Amino acid sequence: MTSPESTNSLRAGMVGMGMIFDETYRPFFERTHREGLYDRRFGDVSVPLVAVATRTGTRAEAYKRAAGNAIHPFVSHAGADSVAKMLAAGVDFVCVASPDDRHFGAAKAALEAGAHVLIEKPSVLRLQELDELVELAHSKNRLAKVVYHKLLDPDHKKLRTLVHDQVLKHVNTGYCSLLEPKSISGGQFAEWIVGRNPGTYVACHYIKLIDFTFGGRLKTITATGQRGLVGPKDGPTWDSTQMRMVYEYDSGRDAAFDIHTSWVTPDNFPGYVEQEVQFRFDNGVWNGHSRKRGVELTVEGETPLKRKITVNNHYNGTFLEPWGERSQRGYGIEVLERFARELAYVKFSGAGADEPQRLAEVQALSYNDLAADRQSVAAVQALEAILERHAAGEPDCVVRVNDSHGGLTLYRPGKAEPIVLYSGRV
Ligand SMILES: NC(=O)c1ccc[n+]([C@@H]2O[C@H](COP(=O)([O-])OP(=O)(O)OC[C@H]3O[C@@H](n4cnc5c(N)ncnc54)[C@H](O)[C@@H]3O)[C@@H](O)[C@H]2O)c1
Repeated sequence: MTSPESTNSLRAGMVGMGMIFDETYRPFFERTHREGLYDRRFGDVSVPLVAVATRTGTRAEAYKRAAGNAIHPFVSHAGADSVAKMLAAGVDFVCVASPDDRHFGAAKAALEAGAHVLIEKPSVLRLQELDELVELAHSKNRLAKVVYHKLLDPDHKKLRTLVHDQVLKHVNTGYCSLLEPKSISGGQFAEWIVGRNPGTYVACHYIKLIDFTFGGRLKTITATGQRGLVGPKDGPTWDSTQMRMVYEYDSGRDAAFDIHTSWVTPDNFPGYVEQEVQFRFDNGVWNGHSRKRGVELTVEGETPLKRKITVNNHYNGTFLEPWGERSQRGYGIEVLERFARELAYVKFSGAGADEPQRLAEVQALSYNDLAADRQSVAAVQALEAILERHAAGEPDCVVRVNDSHGGLTLYRPGKAEPIVLYSGRV
């Protein structure tokens, strides 16, 4: 429970209570319910989860029953008007963790109602939507932020530190792969997977990592993919995708990055979720592999299906602390707490008259602000458009960024007329 002196509160609303809620938002809200949020600059702040909006309400109700006093007694709304009802409860901020093609509507409604928003990756699927949300956030003086928890992974922080400090000089090429088990596409996501692809779902982590770590200007996006397991071999639902992004830097030199993703890897694959990156520099190479992070665990009859062999204890682990307490912690939760701290800083640190200044300061943080998500959204929009054309019988399209036709332009092999996906500058 928060202390009796706590007068300031950030009332939270939640859209979507699926897998990612359970892994990260749940432990975050349970912890702040227990301990509040404290910083010398803003004091003791409560962060009650007051209302939630989901499609059916089933998991929300089950969680509420199971959690009991571990969570603030939130009101659960389900169905088509659930977001509006949740907003009517009066919330200061809203976390959007519904499937990615449903982020925009909920985030827009939240900002229009005057709430700050935090959206799961990828923030939105089109730059047109990004523009609308960024404009709304600015006109309403609200924060609009996106969760890319991999930026808080200590390994990725080290990579960025070495790049920033010029220990690693000029990235030339890189590849990243993220393989999800079949149970994700076949079970967990069966409700919303038609027409979707694993690239938008997880390549966006690496798109952002590359964009944020190395900077530069995104120039070109190409992509292909495979079908036939999750859906028909000629349908719009993808088993795996491979995309390439080309960047140019201030030096005039280029770099190319390949990102491979799949959500049809066998469930008993030892990595379970297998992640690998390699970045090659003028003077070095960075190799990261989830199975070489340090721990491989075997428990007879349990690994790899009930328990993972490669345990990522940094993302989101459950622990018995040395002082006897049970905890759940990691960068997947830290990234949410960080947002709540940024918001508490804006609202409760110092005089109200200075709030616009603090708001501008927090909006300038490019790791999570929607305004700084342009190139990442552009890459996702290009990937989606290329796969859509591919499914419609036109494979091998190329998307170019900021050329003479527009901000994001799709070129089809053998066709003179390009398709402008976004006319403004990316
Ligand atoms: N950061 C990560 O590594 C990570 C991991 C998994 C998922 N995600 C992201 O989180 C989001 C959700 O993924 P998930 O794995 O929790 O999915 P999920 O399918 O497990 O859960 C989706 C939730 O959204 C709700 N929902 C669906 N349509 C809705 C609507 N119109 N209005 C309100 N609620 C609605 C469902 O009821 C469900 O509670 C996606 O954007 C995904 O990309 C991020």
